[in-house]
Amino acid sequence: MLITSRSYAEYEAMFDLTTLPASVLDCCAGGSGFTAEASRRGAEAVAADPAYDLPRAELADAIRWSATTGLSIVDQNVDDFVWDWYGTPAARDEMRAQAAQAFLTHWEEQPERYVGAGLPDLPFATGQFELVLCSHLLFTWAGKFDLDWHLQALRELVRVSDGEVRVFPLVHQGAGEPVAFLPELLERLALPSEIRKVPYEFQRHADEMLVLSKL
Ligand SMILES: C[S@@+](CC[C@H](N)C(=O)[O-])C[C@H]1O[C@@H](n2cnc3c(N)ncnc32)[C@H](O)[C@@H]1O
Repeated sequence: MLITSRSYAEYEAMFDLTTLPASVLDCCAGGSGFTAEASRRGAEAVAADPAYDLPRAELADAIRWSATTGLSIVDQNVDDFVWDWYGTPAARDEMRAQAAQAFLTHWEEQPERYVGAGLPDLPFATGQFELVLCSHLLFTWAGKFDLDWHLQALRELVRVSDGEVRVFPLVHQGAGEPVAFLPELLERLALPSEIRKVPYEFQRHADEMLVLSKL
């Protein structure tokens, strides 16, 4: 799994964010620039990812690799993606390079905001964050993580949230096949949920997020 670096602008689009809450958790944040920019804008922003437990040089190398060589591997299948939002592969590359750099700088300056932790167990208090975001782990990797794991992971994300949990995308990596267990997952979760269209599609068929809230 790549440790990718989506930008603040990509998060705004993927999660249809119109306002920034007072506190926000990006869980499975990887090398994303979201926490850096959300902090700069005044939010109490925290990023969590098990990769933050890697030796520092190894993590930095993995992030740089994903934002360069990793992207060129994706581009071998350039026609499999929808380019409307980015315009061109070069524009996407530039955005990811800037996001990776924003991550690396902020991680150096404020390491306490980057917590080495993995779902389904997070070291945060119940209701600590107004908004919890999860990009490109759940559902994307449904071939690796089963329904029960997703159930535990979503319960944990909801536990640490005080408002909403938003998860994007809702399809498998690759061709964007639907995740067959999603209806059963939502039924077993038994929480207020909504599948909402977002103003972003790059991987084909990946243009919806899951919004969960507490009972
Ligand atoms: C494809 S990257 C997404 C990174 C970032 N959210 C983005 O959109 O660019 C997936 C991330 O999930 C992290 N990850 C893997 N297993 C995890 C777990 N159990 N809990 C939280 N994050 C995990 C990986 O280390 C990796 O950084």
